[in-house]
Amino acid sequence: MDNTNLNHNHSESNVSRVALITGGSKRIGAVTVRQLHQAGYKVIIHCRLSCQSAEALAGELNDTRPDSAKIIQGDLNDDTIYNNLIDQAFQYWQRLDVLINNASSFFPTPIGSITLDDWDNLINTNMKAPLFLSQAIAPYLKKTRGSIINMIDVHAQRPMKDHPVYCAAKAGLTMITQSLAKDLGPEIRVNGVSPGAILWPEHDMPEHTKNLILERTSLKRPGEPIDIARTVLFLVRDADYITGQVIAVDGGRTLNI
Ligand SMILES: NC(=O)c1ccc[n+]([C@@H]2O[C@H](COP(=O)([O-])OP(=O)(O)OC[C@H]3O[C@@H](n4cnc5c(N)ncnc54)[C@H](OP(=O)(O)O)[C@@H]3O)[C@@H](O)[C@H]2O)c1
Repeated sequence: MDNTNLNHNHSESNVSRVALITGGSKRIGAVTVRQLHQAGYKVIIHCRLSCQSAEALAGELNDTRPDSAKIIQGDLNDDTIYNNLIDQAFQYWQRLDVLINNASSFFPTPIGSITLDDWDNLINTNMKAPLFLSQAIAPYLKKTRGSIINMIDVHAQRPMKDHPVYCAAKAGLTMITQSLAKDLGPEIRVNGVSPGAILWPEHDMPEHTKNLILERTSLKRPGEPIDIARTVLFLVRDADYITGQVIAVDGGRTLNI
């Protein structure tokens, strides 16, 4: 069989692809934005509260390449915004190629103290918004043969103590990743990246907990946001025959969780 023409995703070599990254103003999201931008993507940085940081990042990227970065604001607890957010993102450059569902809330919910608000917040950001944003963007991605990346967590597979709602939401996101890969093919690929210990949460975490986590990580150190960003770039740009997979980037943490 002549297979010289089987690479479906990169037929338009001269256009700038457009990536929307939720929660892209800081931390892992911001490093992912930079990595995709450096690889030639135009980026749309979604933010909720950190829009000043998003503006600063977009400004810096536009200085290096004019008209290559935009920002978009929205609270993913508001389930009326999903379609508008995607439509607004499309308006910038009249195309969309990549969605990175990176935004996430993360806090403990010890059993006995869980409120309905906790449930809504954790489920909304980690599971509901990724699904509905994917549904809204799918018609655009079909046209560009684009892809979706869901940021999951090694604790989608094994529970983290006192975090039942967060872990359930990420476990749900794993199944959404697999289901959408099945249902949105052959045009759209859907994959996940599961970070281990990369950046400690912004709220306090006791030192002994951090030490315990690193002790149970084969590489005995935390990873860096760039480890995640490189994997995201690999999946969106270089992995034309990978869909429905979740790659753990965890220094071996899942071996000993
Ligand atoms: N850090 C790690 O080591 C680690 C480990 C496992 C998994 N992960 C996953 O990797 C991804 C990135 O991790 P991270 O630590 O960099 O994330 P993060 O800093 O905890 O959160 C990323 C962004 O999510 C946004 N966000 C939160 N609630 C939101 C809401 N209701 N509406 C809209 N945006 C909201 C925030 O945007 P604003 O600041 O603009 O409000 C925040 O900056 C997440 O999906 C996380 O679950 C990270």
